[in-house]
Amino acid sequence: MDTKRIHVNESYYKEEVFKLGKILREGGLVAFPTETVYGLGGNALDADAAKKIYAAKGRPSDNPLIVHVSGRDEVEKYVEHVGSIENKLIEKFWPGPLTIVFPKKDIIPKETSGGLDTVALRCPQNAATRALIKAAGVPLAGPSANISGRPSPTTADDVLHDMNGRISAVVDDGPCNIGLESTIIGVENGEIVVYRPGGITLEMLQEIGPARMDSNLIVDTGHPKAPGMKYRHYAPKAPLTVYTGDRDSAAAKILEKVHEGDVSKIGFFVSEETAKMLPEDAICYIWGKREDKESFAHNLFTGLLYFNEQPVEQIYGEGTDQAGIGRAIMNRLKKASGGHIVVEEKET
Ligand code: TXA
Ligand code: MG
Repeated sequence: MDTKRIHVNESYYKEEVFKLGKILREGGLVAFPTETVYGLGGNALDADAAKKIYAAKGRPSDNPLIVHVSGRDEVEKYVEHVGSIENKLIEKFWPGPLTIVFPKKDIIPKETSGGLDTVALRCPQNAATRALIKAAGVPLAGPSANISGRPSPTTADDVLHDMNGRISAVVDDGPCNIGLESTIIGVENGEIVVYRPGGITLEMLQEIGPARMDSNLIVDTGHPKAPGMKYRHYAPKAPLTVYTGDRDSAAAKILEKVHEGDVSKIGFFVSEETAKMLPEDAICYIWGKREDKESFAHNLFTGLLYFNEQPVEQIYGEGTDQAGIGRAIMNRLKKASGGHIVVEEKET
């Protein structure tokens, strides 16, 4: 059966949300919008629903699911202990793109937590989704609503492209604002540790208390704290190479590609400034102005998906620096490119 698209409007809040809540409570799957990416929702307290989610995504079941709650008041139902730092983080960043890992209560089945003794909780900003969680009366497990390994969906169309026929419905509330998945953190010995960079940046977390990146994530030992970080992710069909470091040198490297091969088979994923220097017929997706990293984040997955519909055999991308949300952008590009990131030095 085709997946239904339910728009967020007056009748959504009056009736649709209760119908969808019932489907979820009874073990069905419904995709929902958030400020980060679209999630593939199922009852987080139901082991069978978790299994259905893994099956719909084609995802390995040792990769735990984020559990979405509608507010702060639900947290104690699912976690053993909320420390003072976690409390401060919730107060400052919820609802929002911050996922916090806690020791879990038994009510969260192992199927949802991927066998871990912890659970990752997040309260999304999207009002339609918080209403859906309330209507369901259960927390929603929600990985990104894409087939495992593909870029995460930031529109309902992206969700339907991967999930049509595999889930009951998708709640369509337009494109996601941020466009990259939430920041995932845990508190270890009084220190905030970032397991996955995202919209809440390291700099923002450092205002709350000592915060650092998970060292496994930085050196990529294959044992990251967020198990999902070890899988190949976000990859477009054609191989991607990203140039970053000194901006002018990186742009120059990308422009050289025009003369190296058949330009009709190359995709360019670049800033507006660099795009202006490319031939007019080049296959190009502009992620935004160089200084506008929010726009880069917002367009990243849409850009990667765009090239899947183009006859390109190779994609060259222009990266950004690590400050602020740049860290999350470069983390996703590293995965999408299988580590093909070239750091250019300034020409002297
Ligand atoms: O923005 C987001 O977080 C989106 C939206 C839908 O909320 N969700 C999302 O879920 O990105 P997913 O499943 O694609 O990524 C979840 C990540 C995985 O890398 C997983 O390993 C990690 O969260 N994770 C889940 N539970 C964990 C836990 N208990 N400890 C450490 N990492 C955990
Ligand atoms: Mg995902």
